[in-house]
Amino acid sequence: MMLKRSVRGRVHPFIVMDVLKEANRREAAGEDILHLEVGQPSTSAPAAVIAVAQAALGSDKLGYTEALGISPLRARIAQYYSERHDIDLAADRVVVTTGSSGGFMLAFLSAFDAGDRVALADPGYPAYRNILSAVGIEPVSIQTTLAERYQPTPELMERTRREFGQIDGLIVASPANPTGTMLRATEMKELTSYCDDNGIRLISDEIYHGITHGGVAETALNFTDNAFIVNSFSKYYSMTGWRVGWMVIPEDLHRSVECLAQNLFISVPTLSQRAACAAFDCTEELDKNVARYSANRDLLLRELPKAGFDRLSPADGAFYIYAEVDHLTEDSEALCRQLLAETGVALAPGTDFDRDRGRATIRFSFAGDTPIIAAAAGRLQTWWTSVS
Ligand SMILES: Cc1ncc(COP(=O)(O)O)c(C=O)c1O
Repeated sequence: MMLKRSVRGRVHPFIVMDVLKEANRREAAGEDILHLEVGQPSTSAPAAVIAVAQAALGSDKLGYTEALGISPLRARIAQYYSERHDIDLAADRVVVTTGSSGGFMLAFLSAFDAGDRVALADPGYPAYRNILSAVGIEPVSIQTTLAERYQPTPELMERTRREFGQIDGLIVASPANPTGTMLRATEMKELTSYCDDNGIRLISDEIYHGITHGGVAETALNFTDNAFIVNSFSKYYSMTGWRVGWMVIPEDLHRSVECLAQNLFISVPTLSQRAACAAFDCTEELDKNVARYSANRDLLLRELPKAGFDRLSPADGAFYIYAEVDHLTEDSEALCRQLLAETGVALAPGTDFDRDRGRATIRFSFAGDTPIIAAAAGRLQTWWTSVS
């Protein structure tokens, strides 16, 4: 007898994770693989974070915490907004989450019903779309181009509403993955006002704040109290596997987020919460990582054109460069497989970020060590010489 299998459970894979699996398989078989596929710092958590974790292991029973997180961490996050953005924020509006990924689940479930529509930019981070689909919310693509620096605008939102009808939410990321582009303060202000004026719940993914290469990353919290501000310790704080992040949430959804968090997660890993309190005082160590990312970015922007990748996104922030490769392939997944097999360089195909147009794009992650990034550029240049 055929047993029931859900339709909503059949979400797309997160292709980067599949590439990582294949790259790891090759590595385990003895191949020399250079990882430029996954968006993960090559560094560990800051030393002070590790020290707090080690002490906590010996002194704390590490039981459950309150669902919205431990008070010292929520207070320290609120203080961060005062220090970084000059915003006076009540710690009560801060919610600690299981990475930003756990935050998205709480935001989507508290703000939207099944059948609601949430707009997002293509190209964009694939899990937004895949999580929305899994919980029955309709993701609506905004096709962005280099002309608007791959970011949604009120004009693009108007066009999307004309095409699809009512839009209930918008997800924006600045700096963005995979393009690294940022919204300027005026653009963020226009977008938040547009959302507030039109009853659209904004979710602002600010996970790459702190990793910028010149400009300033603006928080939507400067312009509205109705949005979800999503952030994480994964990227700037170099703590991917600790699975801890946070959100600043709108007051009207406070109890709803709390009840969802209680039931879905009970609480965020206690050890990670305790240790994360120390992360905000590690900026000297963490800014050295950012200097490395900036050096890697400059290296790739200089060297990739010599390997045939000459149309590259601006990469204002984060650690990604998005490249147009329609002169090389109509199948970026095949190109990535080929490059992995022939050069050992692991890259992410654009189809992860833009299912249709992504067949002609690929993403380079430069979160790794500079010698690895330089070696990858060298191998790609050798490959390009052999095929051109
Ligand atoms: C734009 C963006 N948002 C969210 C995440 C998820 O990060 P985490 O769940 O580790 O906080 C990622 C990870 O790559 C990302 O690129």
